[in-house]
Amino acid sequence: MPVMERWSSTGAFLLAAIGSAVGIGNIWRFSTVLGQNGGGAYLIPYIIAVFVFAMPLMILEITLGEKLRGTIVSAFRRINPRFVIGWFLCVIVGLILSYYLVITGWTLGYTILTLATGAPSFSEFSSNSLLPIAFFVIATLVTGLIVSFGVNRGIERISIILIPSCVLILLILAAYGTLLPGFYQGITYMFTPDFSVLADPLLWSAAFGQAFFSLSVGMGILLTYGTYMKSGQHIPRFTLIISLADLFVAFLAGLVIFPIVFTFGLSPTAGAELAFTSLPIAFAQMPAGKVVAVAFFAVLFFAAITSTISMMEVGVAAIRESLGWSRVKTTIAVTGGILLLGLPSAMSYSSFALKLDGIKILDFMDETVGTLGLPVAALLFSVTFAWYLPRETLESALGGKDSIARWIIPLCRYVIPGALVMTTIARIASGLGIANTYLLPGSGYIGLLVQLEGITAIVVISLVLIIIACRLRGCNIRKRLGFGNRK
Ligand code: TRP
Repeated sequence: MPVMERWSSTGAFLLAAIGSAVGIGNIWRFSTVLGQNGGGAYLIPYIIAVFVFAMPLMILEITLGEKLRGTIVSAFRRINPRFVIGWFLCVIVGLILSYYLVITGWTLGYTILTLATGAPSFSEFSSNSLLPIAFFVIATLVTGLIVSFGVNRGIERISIILIPSCVLILLILAAYGTLLPGFYQGITYMFTPDFSVLADPLLWSAAFGQAFFSLSVGMGILLTYGTYMKSGQHIPRFTLIISLADLFVAFLAGLVIFPIVFTFGLSPTAGAELAFTSLPIAFAQMPAGKVVAVAFFAVLFFAAITSTISMMEVGVAAIRESLGWSRVKTTIAVTGGILLLGLPSAMSYSSFALKLDGIKILDFMDETVGTLGLPVAALLFSVTFAWYLPRETLESALGGKDSIARWIIPLCRYVIPGALVMTTIARIASGLGIANTYLLPGSGYIGLLVQLEGITAIVVISLVLIIIACRLRGCNIRKRLGFGNRK
């Protein structure tokens, strides 16, 4: 077992955890989901999702990391040595990482190209045979390089530099936004609640999905980061800080994006296109637009890279622990694996235009692993730990019988799994088009077929990787799962 690394300070842990939470999700995904779900209306379910659902699970996750001092794989094994769910979660995170890095590559590409020549049009950029793939490879190598330097010299050092830079640049851009004529309209759009849409289950589903994605909760990332913490710290306070910081950055990004959208007559519901297609049109027209564009894409890149390192660390920690490899060797292997996994997604937005069922592979991955895999993983996480760990163990980990354990345990046992199951069913149903529920952004054109294919693909890839991992460790998977030669 490798020597356990530790954060050099509480602030370093907080910045790394905020770095994992703050990502592309806060900047374009939040404003997109907000735009597609009627602006201010969406804020109420989102804030409820963050504080009532994502935060308690986050408290549980960090606490488990700090108490169990293991990776996601050994944490599940602690409950039952047969549980290979930890590896399944690693696979899901790896698959998300593989396409998230493609978008990270675009942000890097846009920063560099804007600086060199002016922002390219997205259709031009994504029909290039080389650039999108090259930037994906660079983003992956940068992530691997940072992770290979370890917790102190790699992850925390980069987070300490990049996260404050992100916030500072966003503050300056938001201040610039107040000068634009569309500022007032943008603010009104963002903050006017519309209570009538609160009855729509898909609005809640979108809010939940976004809250779990944005806080990177239930995936083993915070558990892994929790294992590097010193014991005896006040974890609930930390989760509040992380959640508020994440929300703050999402709002700030909205304050940058919406004034521009309304000033230049763009559509606030443009979806993923907003950042790469619509905004560059506005950047080209505004005073000092080039500076604003470079700053905007650099923020996206900085935010993305602190998230990709957190995703990679989950797998690196798990493999290191089970194989006893050095950090550098493990990171090289994982980086290579992610390059292979992400290549089809990268190629789908290049001149190769790789598609599955008529949908670009990257969109396919986001619809399946990103939208469905994530709640399923969070569900497995909350159910396993809240149900299988003895209540006394949970209570003592969370600070005693009369502590917040009173709230966290029932929430993680009943309320969070219930909400996750319901919203996931709503999503699958929306893919089927039952009762006109195609309203869910992006689901109408994809449908159940893709979702089923996606789920099958995830299960098959997971099984193959789990079997490889077990073989490497010399264990017999059949025996582990209980099919072994019983006498
Ligand atoms: N939270 C990040 C964002 O908002 C993305 C992210 C980091 C993530 N780690 C994750 C998403 C794990 C899903 C799973 O962009």
